[in-house]
Amino acid sequence: MLRGDNHFETDVVAAERILAAVPEIRDCAWSNRGFHQRAAKWIAERGVRQFIDIGSGLPTVGNTHEVVHAAAADARIVYVDYDPVVLLHARTLLTSDVSGAIDYIDADLRDPGTIVREAARTLDFSRPVAVMLIAIMHLIGDADDPYGLVAQLVEALPSGSYLALSQVAADIEPEQMAEAARRYNRLAYEKQRHRTHAEVSRFFDGLELVAPGVVAVQNWRPASEIESRAKSAMWGGVGRKR
Ligand SMILES: C[S@@+](CC[C@H](N)C(=O)[O-])C[C@H]1O[C@@H](n2cnc3c(N)ncnc32)[C@H](O)[C@@H]1O
Repeated sequence: MLRGDNHFETDVVAAERILAAVPEIRDCAWSNRGFHQRAAKWIAERGVRQFIDIGSGLPTVGNTHEVVHAAAADARIVYVDYDPVVLLHARTLLTSDVSGAIDYIDADLRDPGTIVREAARTLDFSRPVAVMLIAIMHLIGDADDPYGLVAQLVEALPSGSYLALSQVAADIEPEQMAEAARRYNRLAYEKQRHRTHAEVSRFFDGLELVAPGVVAVQNWRPASEIESRAKSAMWGGVGRKR
């Protein structure tokens, strides 16, 4: 959806089938990318120096470590994904980084205990950590207890930590997004579960929601008018642990 170089023919075919029904999905992916970068930068500017990016995906433009290191060169970043192809790309990334400030964990979000344990090799959990769950929660169905998983991650963080989360909306352009999900679900391993504004807001229960709250991702502190005028059917927000 973001184009770039790090994908395969099969990804292109799948993306084209979804785009044929819902061309706006490409804008969603770009708006979400913008949210991801603005949230990471904003959190780094609040002094946070440790990040876990879960469901990092294939490397693309402006990955978390690039955005965060531009704002704070001494930050440490742990990437997590369970896709073996992402793992291959991560190995290249890690061998090109000699600072030891970046790590990659081959793990499943549905096992937060392993993520926290292995992230502790690189991060100090007595100091604030930002957990980035960007465009991953719609791939966690209700049977996997998505709210419980997020709560377990947040529980492991000290006060002053952040959660940045975005996921596909069930209540923006609902017919189009339902058709996109039907097409995606026929092609992909994970099944999509879109959520309403209220359902996405619930992920931030117990956290102090950073203004402007849970909003369409392009409206989360847009850096320009052009960015805010982009479209998306994704909710996103940032919360701070008191
Ligand atoms: C839609 S991509 C989002 C990538 C990136 N965060 C972004 O916003 O561009 C979702 C990623 O989450 C990963 N993923 C899905 N379910 C996962 C799980 N249960 N555990 C770990 N990673 C998962 C997929 O492999 C994929 O790389």
